[in-house]
Amino acid sequence: MKRVSVSVPFSLGDQENLAEAAKWIQYGKLVAFPTETVYGLGANALDSQAVNCIFRAKGRPSDNPLIVHIADQEQLTPLVESIPALAQQLIATFWPGPLTLVFKKSELIPSEVSAGGPTVAIRMPSHPVALELIRRSSLPIAAPSANSSGKPSPTRAEHVAEDLKDNDIFLLDGGPTQVGVESTVLDISESVPILLRSGGVDVEEIEKIIGPVEKGDQLRKNNAPVRSPGMKYRHYAPQAKVRVVQTENLSTLLSQNANRKLALLTLESTGIDTIAGNLSVYVLPTVSAFAQQLFAIFRECDRNGVELILVEDLSRNGLGRAIMNRVERASQT
Ligand code: TXA
Ligand code: MG
Repeated sequence: MKRVSVSVPFSLGDQENLAEAAKWIQYGKLVAFPTETVYGLGANALDSQAVNCIFRAKGRPSDNPLIVHIADQEQLTPLVESIPALAQQLIATFWPGPLTLVFKKSELIPSEVSAGGPTVAIRMPSHPVALELIRRSSLPIAAPSANSSGKPSPTRAEHVAEDLKDNDIFLLDGGPTQVGVESTVLDISESVPILLRSGGVDVEEIEKIIGPVEKGDQLRKNNAPVRSPGMKYRHYAPQAKVRVVQTENLSTLLSQNANRKLALLTLESTGIDTIAGNLSVYVLPTVSAFAQQLFAIFRECDRNGVELILVEDLSRNGLGRAIMNRVERASQT
Protein backbone atom coordinates (compact mmCIF):
# COMPACT_ATOMS: atom_id res chain seq x y z
CA MET A 1 0.00 0.00 0.00
CA LYS A 2 1.24 3.49 -0.84
CA ARG A 3 -0.29 6.18 1.39
CA VAL A 4 -0.08 9.94 0.82
CA SER A 5 -1.87 12.92 2.38
CA VAL A 6 -3.92 15.31 0.30
CA SER A 7 -5.29 18.55 1.69
CA VAL A 8 -7.80 20.96 0.21
CA PRO A 9 -7.10 23.43 -1.40
CA PHE A 10 -4.48 21.43 -3.28
CA SER A 11 -0.83 22.40 -2.97
CA LEU A 12 1.76 21.51 -5.62
CA GLY A 13 2.63 18.32 -3.74
CA ASP A 14 -1.03 17.34 -3.55
CA GLN A 15 -1.38 17.91 -7.31
CA GLU A 16 1.52 15.50 -7.89
CA ASN A 17 -0.06 12.85 -5.66
CA LEU A 18 -3.42 13.24 -7.41
CA ALA A 19 -1.75 12.97 -10.81
CA GLU A 20 -0.03 9.75 -9.74
CA ALA A 21 -3.26 8.32 -8.28
CA ALA A 22 -5.06 9.11 -11.57
CA LYS A 23 -2.35 7.17 -13.44
CA TRP A 24 -2.94 4.18 -11.16
CA ILE A 25 -6.61 4.27 -12.18
CA GLN A 26 -5.67 4.51 -15.87
CA TYR A 27 -3.28 1.55 -15.47
CA GLY A 28 -6.09 -0.59 -14.05
CA LYS A 29 -4.87 -0.42 -10.45
CA LEU A 30 -6.70 0.38 -7.20
CA VAL A 31 -6.91 3.79 -5.52
CA ALA A 32 -8.60 4.37 -2.15
CA PHE A 33 -9.92 7.92 -1.83
CA PRO A 34 -12.07 10.06 0.46
CA THR A 35 -15.62 10.96 -0.48
CA GLU A 36 -17.97 13.11 1.62
CA THR A 37 -19.59 9.90 2.99
CA VAL A 38 -16.91 7.22 3.51
CA TYR A 39 -13.65 6.21 1.80
CA GLY A 40 -14.07 4.36 -1.51
CA LEU A 41 -11.87 1.69 -3.10
CA GLY A 42 -11.77 2.75 -6.74
CA ALA A 43 -10.87 1.26 -10.12
CA ASN A 44 -11.59 2.08 -13.76
CA ALA A 45 -15.31 1.23 -14.06
CA LEU A 46 -14.91 0.28 -17.74
CA ASP A 47 -12.16 -2.30 -17.12
CA SER A 48 -13.48 -5.66 -15.84
CA GLN A 49 -10.05 -6.86 -14.75
CA ALA A 50 -9.48 -3.74 -12.66
CA VAL A 51 -12.97 -4.13 -11.17
CA ASN A 52 -12.21 -7.77 -10.29
CA CYS A 53 -9.26 -6.54 -8.20
CA ILE A 54 -11.72 -4.57 -6.04
CA PHE A 55 -13.76 -7.70 -5.26
CA ARG A 56 -10.57 -9.65 -4.44
CA ALA A 57 -9.10 -6.96 -2.17
CA LYS A 58 -12.33 -6.57 -0.17
CA GLY A 59 -13.33 -10.22 -0.16
CA ARG A 60 -16.65 -9.01 -1.58
CA PRO A 61 -19.23 -11.49 -2.93
CA SER A 62 -19.35 -11.10 -6.71
CA ASP A 63 -23.16 -10.84 -6.74
CA ASN A 64 -23.01 -7.43 -4.99
CA PRO A 65 -22.82 -4.66 -7.63
CA LEU A 66 -20.69 -1.50 -7.36
CA ILE A 67 -21.45 2.22 -7.47
CA VAL A 68 -19.87 4.13 -10.36
CA HIS A 69 -18.56 7.60 -9.48
CA ILE A 70 -18.56 10.45 -12.00
CA ALA A 71 -17.47 14.09 -11.86
CA ASP A 72 -19.84 15.74 -14.34
CA GLN A 73 -23.12 15.08 -16.12
CA GLU A 74 -21.53 14.45 -19.53
CA GLN A 75 -20.01 11.30 -18.05
CA LEU A 76 -23.47 9.97 -17.19
CA THR A 77 -25.08 9.75 -20.63
CA PRO A 78 -22.90 7.00 -22.17
CA LEU A 79 -23.21 4.81 -19.06
CA VAL A 80 -27.01 4.55 -18.97
CA GLU A 81 -29.82 3.60 -21.35
CA SER A 82 -31.79 6.75 -20.58
CA ILE A 83 -32.12 9.50 -17.98
CA PRO A 84 -35.74 9.65 -16.75
CA ALA A 85 -37.22 13.14 -16.12
CA LEU A 86 -37.45 12.30 -12.43
CA ALA A 87 -33.72 11.59 -12.35
CA GLN A 88 -33.02 14.98 -13.95
CA GLN A 89 -34.80 16.71 -11.08
CA LEU A 90 -32.91 14.73 -8.45
CA ILE A 91 -29.59 15.32 -10.17
CA ALA A 92 -30.24 19.07 -10.35
CA THR A 93 -30.98 19.14 -6.63
CA PHE A 94 -28.62 16.64 -5.03
CA TRP A 95 -25.54 16.20 -7.26
CA PRO A 96 -22.76 16.48 -6.41
CA GLY A 97 -23.66 14.86 -3.08
CA PRO A 98 -24.52 11.64 -1.24
CA LEU A 99 -27.32 10.36 -3.51
CA THR A 100 -26.78 7.28 -5.68
CA LEU A 101 -29.27 6.65 -8.50
CA VAL A 102 -29.87 3.24 -10.09
CA PHE A 103 -30.41 3.43 -13.89
CA LYS A 104 -30.86 0.89 -16.67
CA LYS A 105 -27.26 0.36 -17.76
CA SER A 106 -25.67 0.79 -21.18
CA GLU A 107 -23.43 -1.74 -22.95
CA LEU A 108 -20.36 0.12 -21.65
CA ILE A 109 -20.85 -1.13 -18.10
CA PRO A 110 -19.04 -4.44 -17.57
CA SER A 111 -21.12 -7.19 -15.97
CA GLU A 112 -18.69 -7.27 -12.99
CA VAL A 113 -19.84 -3.75 -12.04
CA SER A 114 -23.55 -4.55 -12.30
CA ALA A 115 -23.10 -8.09 -10.88
CA GLY A 116 -24.70 -9.45 -14.03
CA GLY A 117 -27.84 -7.33 -13.64
CA PRO A 118 -29.48 -4.88 -16.08
CA THR A 119 -28.90 -1.77 -13.93
CA VAL A 120 -26.04 0.42 -12.77
CA ALA A 121 -25.76 2.59 -9.64
CA ILE A 122 -24.19 6.01 -10.25
CA ARG A 123 -23.29 8.94 -8.06
CA MET A 124 -21.40 12.23 -8.26
CA PRO A 125 -19.55 12.70 -4.96
CA SER A 126 -18.99 16.21 -3.61
CA HIS A 127 -15.55 15.67 -2.06
CA PRO A 128 -12.93 17.73 -3.96
CA VAL A 129 -10.37 14.89 -3.82
CA ALA A 130 -12.83 12.38 -5.31
CA LEU A 131 -13.88 14.82 -8.03
CA GLU A 132 -10.28 15.69 -8.91
CA LEU A 133 -9.28 12.00 -9.11
CA ILE A 134 -12.16 11.27 -11.50
CA ARG A 135 -11.40 14.34 -13.65
CA ARG A 136 -7.68 13.64 -13.88
CA SER A 137 -8.18 9.99 -14.80
CA SER A 138 -10.90 10.97 -17.35
CA LEU A 139 -12.71 7.77 -16.37
CA PRO A 140 -15.77 6.76 -14.39
CA ILE A 141 -14.56 5.10 -11.17
CA ALA A 142 -16.29 2.06 -9.67
CA ALA A 143 -15.92 2.16 -5.91
CA PRO A 144 -17.46 0.33 -2.99
CA SER A 145 -16.62 1.42 0.55
CA ALA A 146 -12.91 0.71 1.18
CA ASN A 147 -13.35 -1.74 4.07
CA SER A 148 -12.96 -5.52 4.17
CA SER A 149 -16.35 -6.97 3.32
CA GLY A 150 -18.67 -7.00 6.36
CA LYS A 151 -16.61 -4.54 8.46
CA PRO A 152 -17.78 -1.01 9.29
CA SER A 153 -17.20 1.41 6.40
CA PRO A 154 -13.97 3.43 6.66
CA THR A 155 -14.40 7.08 7.61
CA ARG A 156 -10.64 7.71 8.03
CA ALA A 157 -7.60 6.67 6.03
CA GLU A 158 -6.39 4.66 9.07
CA HIS A 159 -9.46 2.43 8.73
CA VAL A 160 -8.60 1.68 5.09
CA ALA A 161 -5.02 0.88 6.08
CA GLU A 162 -6.25 -1.35 8.93
CA ASP A 163 -8.37 -3.47 6.58
CA LEU A 164 -6.45 -3.44 3.29
CA LYS A 165 -2.78 -2.76 4.08
CA ASP A 166 -1.54 -5.97 2.42
CA ASN A 167 -2.92 -4.96 -0.98
CA ASP A 168 -1.33 -3.01 -3.82
CA ILE A 169 -3.42 0.13 -3.28
CA PHE A 170 -2.69 3.85 -3.59
CA LEU A 171 -4.35 5.49 -0.57
CA LEU A 172 -5.20 9.19 -0.71
CA ASP A 173 -5.52 10.36 2.90
CA GLY A 174 -7.89 13.32 3.03
CA GLY A 175 -8.63 13.13 6.76
CA PRO A 176 -11.94 12.12 8.39
CA THR A 177 -15.01 12.11 6.13
CA GLN A 178 -17.82 14.53 6.79
CA VAL A 179 -21.10 12.62 6.53
CA GLY A 180 -19.92 9.31 8.00
CA VAL A 181 -22.66 7.05 6.62
CA GLU A 182 -22.84 5.98 2.97
CA SER A 183 -24.90 7.56 0.20
CA THR A 184 -28.66 7.12 -0.12
CA VAL A 185 -29.40 4.59 -2.90
CA LEU A 186 -32.57 5.21 -4.93
CA ASP A 187 -33.66 2.93 -7.78
CA ILE A 188 -35.30 4.99 -10.53
CA SER A 189 -34.93 2.33 -13.23
CA GLU A 190 -38.63 1.38 -13.03
CA SER A 191 -41.66 3.68 -12.91
CA VAL A 192 -41.94 3.65 -9.09
CA PRO A 193 -38.81 4.96 -7.34
CA ILE A 194 -37.58 2.65 -4.58
CA LEU A 195 -35.32 3.57 -1.68
CA LEU A 196 -32.75 0.75 -1.49
CA ARG A 197 -30.53 2.26 1.21
CA SER A 198 -31.09 5.27 3.45
CA GLY A 199 -28.01 7.47 3.72
CA GLY A 200 -26.53 10.94 3.45
CA VAL A 201 -29.51 12.52 1.65
CA ASP A 202 -32.74 12.39 3.70
CA VAL A 203 -35.58 10.49 2.05
CA GLU A 204 -37.89 13.29 3.21
CA GLU A 205 -35.91 15.75 1.05
CA ILE A 206 -36.19 13.41 -1.94
CA GLU A 207 -39.95 13.07 -1.44
CA LYS A 208 -40.33 16.87 -1.43
CA ILE A 209 -39.11 16.80 -5.01
CA ILE A 210 -40.51 13.62 -6.57
CA GLY A 211 -43.34 12.65 -4.20
CA PRO A 212 -43.70 9.40 -2.23
CA VAL A 213 -40.95 6.82 -2.55
CA GLU A 214 -41.35 3.11 -1.82
CA LYS A 215 -39.18 2.11 1.15
CA GLY A 216 -37.11 -0.95 0.35
CA ASP A 217 -34.42 -0.19 2.94
CA GLN A 218 -36.11 -2.04 5.83
CA LEU A 219 -34.54 -5.20 7.11
CA ARG A 220 -35.41 -8.03 4.76
CA LYS A 221 -38.24 -10.16 6.07
CA ASN A 222 -39.21 -13.74 5.12
CA ASN A 223 -36.76 -13.99 2.24
CA ALA A 224 -38.59 -11.37 0.19
CA PRO A 225 -36.84 -10.80 -3.15
CA VAL A 226 -33.78 -8.57 -2.87
CA ARG A 227 -33.61 -5.52 -5.11
CA SER A 228 -30.24 -4.45 -3.81
CA PRO A 229 -27.94 -7.40 -3.16
CA GLY A 230 -26.02 -5.46 -0.51
CA MET A 231 -29.13 -5.60 1.67
CA LYS A 232 -28.85 -9.33 2.28
CA TYR A 233 -25.37 -9.38 3.79
CA ARG A 234 -24.44 -8.78 7.41
CA HIS A 235 -22.73 -5.46 7.36
CA TYR A 236 -21.10 -2.61 9.22
CA ALA A 237 -20.28 -5.03 11.99
CA PRO A 238 -17.64 -4.65 14.68
CA GLN A 239 -16.36 -7.70 16.60
CA ALA A 240 -18.37 -6.53 19.59
CA LYS A 241 -22.08 -7.30 19.80
CA VAL A 242 -24.30 -4.33 19.00
CA ARG A 243 -27.67 -3.67 20.59
CA VAL A 244 -30.24 -0.91 20.23
CA VAL A 245 -31.39 0.35 23.61
CA GLN A 246 -34.26 2.53 24.83
CA THR A 247 -32.94 4.96 27.43
CA GLU A 248 -35.55 3.84 29.99
CA ASN A 249 -34.17 0.26 29.83
CA LEU A 250 -30.58 1.33 30.18
CA SER A 251 -30.06 0.88 33.92
CA THR A 252 -31.53 -2.65 33.82
CA LEU A 253 -29.25 -3.55 30.90
CA LEU A 254 -26.22 -2.14 32.67
CA SER A 255 -26.83 -4.17 35.81
CA GLN A 256 -27.48 -7.32 33.76
CA ASN A 257 -24.12 -6.84 32.05
CA ALA A 258 -22.12 -5.65 35.04
CA ASN A 259 -19.24 -8.05 34.34
CA ARG A 260 -18.83 -7.22 30.63
CA LYS A 261 -16.93 -4.42 28.97
CA LEU A 262 -19.58 -2.06 27.56
CA ALA A 263 -19.88 1.06 25.44
CA LEU A 264 -22.86 3.36 25.04
CA LEU A 265 -23.52 5.78 22.18
CA THR A 266 -26.03 8.44 23.09
CA LEU A 267 -27.17 11.90 22.11
CA GLU A 268 -26.24 14.74 24.47
CA SER A 269 -29.93 15.56 24.83
CA THR A 270 -30.62 12.35 26.79
CA GLY A 271 -28.45 13.68 29.62
CA ILE A 272 -26.66 10.37 30.28
CA ASP A 273 -23.01 10.80 31.19
CA THR A 274 -22.29 8.25 33.90
CA ILE A 275 -19.03 6.42 33.50
CA ALA A 276 -19.04 3.16 35.40
CA GLY A 277 -15.82 1.14 35.48
CA ASN A 278 -16.94 -1.24 32.75
CA LEU A 279 -18.76 1.34 30.59
CA SER A 280 -17.42 3.94 28.16
CA VAL A 281 -20.00 6.52 27.18
CA TYR A 282 -19.77 8.32 23.84
CA VAL A 283 -21.92 11.44 24.02
CA LEU A 284 -22.68 12.86 20.56
CA PRO A 285 -23.85 16.49 20.39
CA THR A 286 -26.05 16.11 17.28
CA VAL A 287 -27.50 13.47 14.99
CA SER A 288 -25.01 14.46 12.28
CA ALA A 289 -22.10 14.02 14.72
CA PHE A 290 -23.62 10.61 15.56
CA ALA A 291 -23.47 9.65 11.87
CA GLN A 292 -20.00 11.06 11.42
CA GLN A 293 -18.52 9.18 14.41
CA LEU A 294 -20.53 5.92 14.35
CA PHE A 295 -18.15 3.67 12.37
CA ALA A 296 -15.01 5.13 13.96
CA ILE A 297 -16.47 4.41 17.41
CA PHE A 298 -17.33 0.83 16.38
CA ARG A 299 -13.70 0.32 15.36
CA GLU A 300 -12.36 1.99 18.52
CA CYS A 301 -14.55 -0.27 20.67
CA ASP A 302 -12.99 -3.30 18.98
CA ARG A 303 -9.49 -2.00 19.64
CA ASN A 304 -10.43 -1.53 23.30
CA GLY A 305 -11.90 -5.00 23.67
CA VAL A 306 -15.48 -3.82 24.24
CA GLU A 307 -17.86 -6.82 24.25
CA LEU A 308 -21.22 -5.10 23.90
CA ILE A 309 -22.02 -1.75 22.23
CA LEU A 310 -25.33 -0.21 23.26
CA VAL A 311 -26.74 2.38 20.89
CA GLU A 312 -29.53 4.75 21.87
CA ASP A 313 -32.65 4.23 19.75
CA LEU A 314 -32.85 7.37 17.58
CA SER A 315 -36.01 8.50 15.83
CA ARG A 316 -36.02 7.12 12.34
CA ASN A 317 -36.22 10.26 10.28
CA GLY A 318 -33.56 12.22 8.41
CA LEU A 319 -30.07 10.93 9.18
CA GLY A 320 -31.51 9.02 12.16
CA ARG A 321 -33.05 6.60 9.67
CA ALA A 322 -29.67 5.93 8.04
CA ILE A 323 -27.91 5.56 11.39
CA MET A 324 -30.46 3.10 12.80
CA ASN A 325 -30.37 1.09 9.57
CA ARG A 326 -26.58 0.62 10.03
CA VAL A 327 -26.93 -0.17 13.73
CA GLU A 328 -29.68 -2.74 13.14
CA ARG A 329 -27.65 -4.39 10.40
CA ALA A 330 -24.61 -4.48 12.70
CA SER A 331 -26.71 -6.07 15.45
CA GLN A 332 -27.83 -8.99 13.26
CA THR A 333 -26.02 -12.15 14.22
O1 TXA B 1 -21.36 6.56 -0.02
C1 TXA B 1 -21.23 5.59 -0.76
O2 TXA B 1 -22.15 5.19 -1.48
C2 TXA B 1 -19.86 4.88 -0.75
C3 TXA B 1 -18.83 5.83 -1.35
C4 TXA B 1 -17.49 5.18 -1.52
O3 TXA B 1 -19.32 6.34 -2.57
N1 TXA B 1 -19.95 3.66 -1.51
C5 TXA B 1 -20.61 2.56 -1.05
O4 TXA B 1 -20.53 1.45 -1.89
O5 TXA B 1 -21.20 2.52 0.02
P1 TXA B 1 -20.89 -0.02 -1.40
O6 TXA B 1 -20.46 -0.89 -2.52
O7 TXA B 1 -20.27 -0.28 -0.09
O8 TXA B 1 -22.44 -0.02 -1.32
C6 TXA B 1 -23.19 0.05 -2.51
C7 TXA B 1 -24.60 -0.40 -2.28
C8 TXA B 1 -24.70 -1.90 -2.03
O9 TXA B 1 -25.71 -2.12 -1.07
C9 TXA B 1 -25.10 -2.45 -3.39
O10 TXA B 1 -25.80 -3.66 -3.29
C10 TXA B 1 -25.96 -1.32 -3.93
O11 TXA B 1 -25.34 -0.13 -3.47
N2 TXA B 1 -25.96 -1.32 -5.40
C11 TXA B 1 -24.92 -1.09 -6.24
N3 TXA B 1 -25.30 -1.21 -7.52
C12 TXA B 1 -26.61 -1.53 -7.50
C13 TXA B 1 -27.58 -1.81 -8.53
N4 TXA B 1 -27.27 -1.79 -9.80
N5 TXA B 1 -28.83 -2.10 -8.14
C14 TXA B 1 -29.17 -2.11 -6.83
N6 TXA B 1 -28.30 -1.88 -5.82
C15 TXA B 1 -27.04 -1.59 -6.15
MG1 MG C 1 -19.95 -1.09 1.71
